[in-house]
Amino acid sequence: METVIDIKHLNKSFGQREVLSDINFSVRQGEVSCLIGSSGSGKSTLLRCINLLETPSAGEIFYRGENILDGQHDILTYRTHLGMVFQQFNLFENLNVLDNCTIGQIKVLKKDKETAEKLARHFLEEVGMADFAQARVTQLSGGQKQRVAIARALAMEPDVLLFDEPTSALDPEMVGEVLRVMKDLAKRGMTMLVVTHEMDFARDVADHVVFMDKGLIVEEGAPQDIFNNPKEERTRAFLSRVLTN
Ligand SMILES: Nc1ncnc2c1ncn2[C@@H]1O[C@H](COP(=O)(O)OP(=O)(O)OP(=O)(O)O)[C@@H](O)[C@H]1O
Ligand SMILES: [Mg+2]
Repeated sequence: METVIDIKHLNKSFGQREVLSDINFSVRQGEVSCLIGSSGSGKSTLLRCINLLETPSAGEIFYRGENILDGQHDILTYRTHLGMVFQQFNLFENLNVLDNCTIGQIKVLKKDKETAEKLARHFLEEVGMADFAQARVTQLSGGQKQRVAIARALAMEPDVLLFDEPTSALDPEMVGEVLRVMKDLAKRGMTMLVVTHEMDFARDVADHVVFMDKGLIVEEGAPQDIFNNPKEERTRAFLSRVLTN
């Protein structure tokens, strides 16, 4: 499988505090990679470094073989290749659902309104939100908001989708509808990097699982290896904590 994103020796410090230490890993085309680990282990910071919402303190990010931090690459263009779905949705509450899904296409990708709306409606349909195109964001449930956020990300036609705990802010009865959409995307070959506390999702859907603790990648591998046969004591301790509650 072709490597889409390759992270090499990435470090991130906030002041004196190092929160990511020598991170090395790859995201491969068509694969779902799940990042798991305790609160504060650096999962969100790693995602934010990958899409350059945070600037890495050291290390390299290769996107399809290009070193995007070498000063020669247009970071805004790089970022258009990555879609991001946040825990708190981050929709524009002053815009309706359709406009949420067109504004980036129009402002960033310079598409005309008609083309943007057509694509937006296509992806709203895909996440089961076509009937809500004219709805106000504030009228939607959490699960509906997150599905719109996914449609908005898809409408930018990204190469990779990054998710930061997309179901953590949802009422339990809405988690399933969002995971279902994500499973569909995975099945259709979308490349995805997902920070999640949903261990069932990681076990069932991920091709690759990365376990982080205290800013380090402790262990990574196929889900059956990580979940059934973890090599590291820290992985075992984490899994026994999260799988028994
Ligand atoms: N902007 C910031 N300034 C200073 N410290 C930060 C900043 N952002 C994150 N940190 C620290 O970096 C560490 C890793 O945080 P991060 O949010 O990446 O963890 P996480 O694994 O996503 O945790 P959670 O599961 O709770 O979301 C934490 O100790 C956090 O306090
Ligand atoms: Mg986080």
